[in-house]
Amino acid sequence: MRRPLVAGNWKMNGTCSSVAALSQQLHEMKLGGEVDVAVLPGALHIGQAREGLKGSSISLGAQDCSVEPDFYARTGEVCAAQLADIGCVWVLVGHSERRLMLGEGNELVARKFLAAQSKGLIPILCVGETLAQREAGDFWSIIRGQVEAVVELAGVPAFAGAVVAYEPVWAIGTGKTASPDEAQAVHAAIRGWIAERSESVAAGLRIVYGGSVKASNAAELFAKPDIDGGLVGGASLNAEEFGAICRAARI
Ligand code: 13P
Repeated sequence: MRRPLVAGNWKMNGTCSSVAALSQQLHEMKLGGEVDVAVLPGALHIGQAREGLKGSSISLGAQDCSVEPDFYARTGEVCAAQLADIGCVWVLVGHSERRLMLGEGNELVARKFLAAQSKGLIPILCVGETLAQREAGDFWSIIRGQVEAVVELAGVPAFAGAVVAYEPVWAIGTGKTASPDEAQAVHAAIRGWIAERSESVAAGLRIVYGGSVKASNAAELFAKPDIDGGLVGGASLNAEEFGAICRAARI
């Protein structure tokens, strides 16, 4: 049985005071237990969220890391070694907002994935197709290419203990969620592709869904056999809403 994961991607939101308030509210809600619960604040606020969540079972992550795993001359970047040092457990790589707006390609994302793992962080590889790619038909080849880049660089064992987040770009921040069946079909295809290379890695791989996850649709999505939790954007900025999503992920 795979343990569900619900991670809140706070994206480029938050001020010192809002992060303090949200961290405190989440702390008081005593989330966790049967579900891994994580928050991914902007890099500036990771330390503050760590203080606010001290003693809670909510873990911390980051939204990106440098391809350079170690301390280095990379102005403005944050490396995996720094994220591990501040207490991060998780790091997103290849979020579509970075792929599309900052031009991050599959190979760069795969290198970030390995940089994260080399410092003991758990990478969450974000994959997903745009609306145009879905409408053009063969969108599976887009998603497969995003997964395959990691396998080409490091082999399928790199996915042992890692997480994949399927986030159809057309569902992010649009209020338009993939239907549970649409999401399940892609999750099953990802797991199937990994299983052709390693059944045991595929069986243990957590594949979470992201894209307009809310308290009102989470349970239906998480009930699907290959959906192992959620990567939540907008709704994770509201403690009540996020708490309800975490409860919906209980096995
Ligand atoms: P929304 O939940 O706001 O659609 O964002 C999803 C997302 O991009 C999480 O990484």
